[in-house]
Amino acid sequence: MRLVATGIVVNLSTAGIFAHRGNEKQREERCAKECGYVQPHGIHRTTLLRHECHERADIPHRNAQLALVADMRTLVTGGAGYIGSHLVDRLVELGHDVVVLDDLSTGHLANLSGAMSHIRFVQGNILDGNLVDSLVSGAELVFHLAAAVGVGHIVAKPLSSLITNTKGAENVIESCVKHEAKLLLASTSEIYGKTAKMPMSEDDDRVLGSTTIARWGYSTAKAIDEHLALAYVQQGLRMSIVRYFNSYGPRLDPRGYGSVVANLVRQALSNEPLTIHGDGTQTRCFTFVNDTVEGTLRAALDERGEGMVFNIGNNHETVINDLATMITAMTGSSSSIQHVSYEARYGKGFEDTKRRVPDVRRASEILGFTASTSLEDGLAHTLQWWRATHR
Ligand SMILES: NC(=O)c1ccc[n+]([C@@H]2O[C@H](COP(=O)([O-])OP(=O)(O)OC[C@H]3O[C@@H](n4cnc5c(N)ncnc54)[C@H](O)[C@@H]3O)[C@@H](O)[C@H]2O)c1
Repeated sequence: MRLVATGIVVNLSTAGIFAHRGNEKQREERCAKECGYVQPHGIHRTTLLRHECHERADIPHRNAQLALVADMRTLVTGGAGYIGSHLVDRLVELGHDVVVLDDLSTGHLANLSGAMSHIRFVQGNILDGNLVDSLVSGAELVFHLAAAVGVGHIVAKPLSSLITNTKGAENVIESCVKHEAKLLLASTSEIYGKTAKMPMSEDDDRVLGSTTIARWGYSTAKAIDEHLALAYVQQGLRMSIVRYFNSYGPRLDPRGYGSVVANLVRQALSNEPLTIHGDGTQTRCFTFVNDTVEGTLRAALDERGEGMVFNIGNNHETVINDLATMITAMTGSSSSIQHVSYEARYGKGFEDTKRRVPDVRRASEILGFTASTSLEDGLAHTLQWWRATHR
């Protein structure tokens, strides 16, 4: 792996390492104070990287860490999608080589307009095993985000969605094993199903409904991907898994996976009634996309995250009725609020979860990651983008 980071370790003489250890406590205190980063474990390579930031003047902690591992060959499946394209922008900004594989089924080339001249875009399907294998063979780090996303898709097209989300992921995972590429697997808070235990911790039980209720197929397919990736660790796969909690932000597609933020913003800006499923007392934890991407990068780049699963989300709960009121106020919309039954939207037997709150301690303690964007700020950015692009 062509890591600048490796260079640092190699360049450190044994004496240098011990000198570094001598100052370790001092550096840790400084990192905790200036960067809010608390070192939970002993010294290893990433520790050296993290504390390196304080030997380099004026470089913020988080940028120092990421910049030092720049110049990797990366592959982003689903890179033309909503989260994937933001991730691609960030990888380009950090100086990595980026190849994107996307079939444009829900993604858009417009999402990559800023990055396109710096990346290689391949339009293709993750179900094409030969294509996946040849692209993975050229990568050191693979971000697997391509998927039939969300409950809406699974309910509308259960078979093709399940095949994409299981067989497609299997192709990517197996090629990563074969070519010794590191894998970042994008998973979902849907994994936890309808558990009543809050907050949801990574090792919690999953509580799902019957297989006759299509919506649980999304959770189940993503769980198979997680099991596969975790099992392949024994065959030498280096990987980490991130479970996203309700990401929102610019480039959200209102025709996409059924994001409540996208639907409500679209309706508010066109002064249509804001439709809320159920009585609207259900809550969700909304995570601004910059935070989603930051957590993803940290999970992928920080060695201490290897072999682990992380909740990546904001743990601030918002009642859906309050979200609608907020969006109405921020857009100055004249829309009313209309409650519609889940059955009317998703068909008979649909089950929803009342709350979905991430336990964020693991990501905070191990990756030093906390989603920091408030809903007000995130919505303001989203609205600004929406107004500029949907005229
Ligand atoms: N948005 C969220 O809040 C959220 C929550 C939980 C999990 N996730 C996960 O994050 C990842 C990205 O989701 P997103 O919200 O950006 O959705 P998205 O639909 O914008 O992105 C998915 C991308 O994958 C591409 N794709 C789909 N099937 C493909 C195939 N067979 N071959 C190649 N490309 C294919 C699509 O064209 C699209 O660009 C997904 O794995 C999803 O399950 C997202």
